[in-house]
Amino acid sequence: MSNTDQTLANLLQEDRRFEPPAELAAHANLTAEAYDRAAADREGFWAAQAERITWAEPFTQVLDWSNPPFAKWYVGGKLNAAYNCVDRHVEAGRGDKVAIHFVGEPVGDTRSITYAELQDLVSQAANALTDLGVEAGDRVAIYMPMIPEAVVTMLACARIGAPHTVVFGGFSSDALASRLEDCQAKVVVTADGGYRRGAASALKPAVDEARTKAETLGHTVEKVLVVRRTGQDLGENGWDDAVDVWWHDAVDSASTQHTPEAFDAEHPLYVMYTSGTTGKPKGILHTTGGYLVGCSYTHWAVFDLKDDDVYWCTADIGWVTGHSYIVYGPLANGVTQVLYEGTPDSPERGRWWDVIEQHGVTIFYTAPTAIRSFMKQGREIPDARDLSSLRLLGSVGEPINPEAYVWYRHVIGGDRTPVVDTWWQTETGSIMISPLPGVTAGKPGSAMIPIPGVAADVVDEEGTPVPNGSGGYLVLTEPWPSMLRTIWGDDERFKETYWARFAKQGYYFAGDGAKKDSDGDLWVLGRVDDVMNVSGHRLSTTEIESALVSHPKVAEAAVVGAKDEDTGQAVCAFVILRESALDSGASDGGDDIVAELRKHVRKEIGPIATPRQIMVVPELPKTRSGKIMRRLLRDVAENREIGDVTTLADSSVMDLISSGLSGGKGDE
Ligand code: PRX
Repeated sequence: MSNTDQTLANLLQEDRRFEPPAELAAHANLTAEAYDRAAADREGFWAAQAERITWAEPFTQVLDWSNPPFAKWYVGGKLNAAYNCVDRHVEAGRGDKVAIHFVGEPVGDTRSITYAELQDLVSQAANALTDLGVEAGDRVAIYMPMIPEAVVTMLACARIGAPHTVVFGGFSSDALASRLEDCQAKVVVTADGGYRRGAASALKPAVDEARTKAETLGHTVEKVLVVRRTGQDLGENGWDDAVDVWWHDAVDSASTQHTPEAFDAEHPLYVMYTSGTTGKPKGILHTTGGYLVGCSYTHWAVFDLKDDDVYWCTADIGWVTGHSYIVYGPLANGVTQVLYEGTPDSPERGRWWDVIEQHGVTIFYTAPTAIRSFMKQGREIPDARDLSSLRLLGSVGEPINPEAYVWYRHVIGGDRTPVVDTWWQTETGSIMISPLPGVTAGKPGSAMIPIPGVAADVVDEEGTPVPNGSGGYLVLTEPWPSMLRTIWGDDERFKETYWARFAKQGYYFAGDGAKKDSDGDLWVLGRVDDVMNVSGHRLSTTEIESALVSHPKVAEAAVVGAKDEDTGQAVCAFVILRESALDSGASDGGDDIVAELRKHVRKEIGPIATPRQIMVVPELPKTRSGKIMRRLLRDVAENREIGDVTTLADSSVMDLISSGLSGGKGDE
């Protein structure tokens, strides 16, 4: 039995069940009938969900799927996403409702923003961006800490029809530069820095570097709009009057009056870069109408949202979760939410629980990796806080192991709260597979079944659905409103990556493996391609390999994701050094070269991509056709007995690798 099968067998013995609380079930937004209703008339169901949104012009057709895989949803409809997230709530008399309780990392640095105030801020930012020359269709890059201005900027872009591309603030200037170039961003919005782990952490210098690099790639960024967040020194050459503009100069003085224009339902809303199986990140394109319907509907249904809820999603706006479940879904639904700038343990370990207690958070959405780290710290920390306001917990980003699920429910949720394990992707735009909290008896570790309106299955190599009790590839079998429309500038790659694998059936292949248990419920097992999932963040093995081989001392590199107790998976790299490096004494893979390479990856991509281990090896295991056998390297990285080596070109390679490892491990 392979390791995966063994894990699965253990998982499938899970017989704990958690019924929905009676009170929640009695008033649930969505009940069991929705499954049948949606299956009977999927397009009719999605047409009904579209009523959650205010359309400036109604659509005439729900779905145009005449040219698959290029979908058009809500054809002919016109809307403005920012109007839907802000203005309409004010018009409905809810302007005094708090939209955002901002909690800065420095204790006491808080700010509450009502919908009426948000409307003013977004209008001002929209006017300021227009003054900087941004027009509908122009791309705006956002490289910011988790501060209200980040949300305001996203909405301001949506308001003027300028697709945004938010780049995670933890990414390096190189990663930022390649994204600026790929989407040809006209303007970058950033901050001097943000607060992380008790200190001001600079952002603006990385934008300056990225701008210079983009220039060498032939792309000119015209303006950089800078929020003063930390007040830190920008350095001697840290300001260019011809390009840089302070937010407090441009935005604060702008008019609070701005009329939102209605855009076509298929107008591009944003591009979000994510790792794929090649070195070049993919710009996932989401458009306006379908995306907004998908986010609004799922946020309302999966979190059973009520008007008096206080919602908190801990994701960063640099990831899709921040887009769909901080900005577009929650704000379209007129929610009150917490926005927190910092890390969970700053200034001390109970910070998140303090925020929940202080703001009376009722719905909390986070990632398994965070839950596991809290488990390690011990329950005394959350136990010392009053978490009784919580009524629903969510999990996203990676498979949640049953123990973490049960701990989350028990310790954080006081055994009252359902846990919704939500499966989705940057590409899907919104939640696809999840329990419904008022309907489903939760099973720790299973994301259960597709939500009403979504059709998913697990299929074998041929695309035939597997029977209950078997595993295979996770596919989405019908189009859905918030689906990606293409990869920015690369329709061919879009078709090839997602639609070619099961072209005959017309299925979208998600890249994940999954199993159906004996009840037909789904267990997502993780990626089956060369994508890793580290702390719920997607990284491509090839991207890190490219970063490694760009170092002058590295001849060849292979990267695998190895199981990690804390981060789900961790980056493990195997490198072959160049002769010249060997001559200079790096042959033993000593600490120096390992430290140097780790630093190099951090600089090229960002800290999240830093390998946990770098092993200097004399050879890499390859098939006769030269393909690296990552499976065998994964065995080494996970300290397992090495599997079948019969397809190796040179079967002694694994002995060489294993015997040489004692001096080559680079653990920190
Ligand atoms: O492997 C799956 C995993 O995260 C991948 C998507 O990553 P990304 O596009 O960065 O989006 C993360 C936030 C939606 C998926 O292909 N994944 C996400 N949620 C789950 C999950 N794996 C298991 N269970 C989940 N709930």
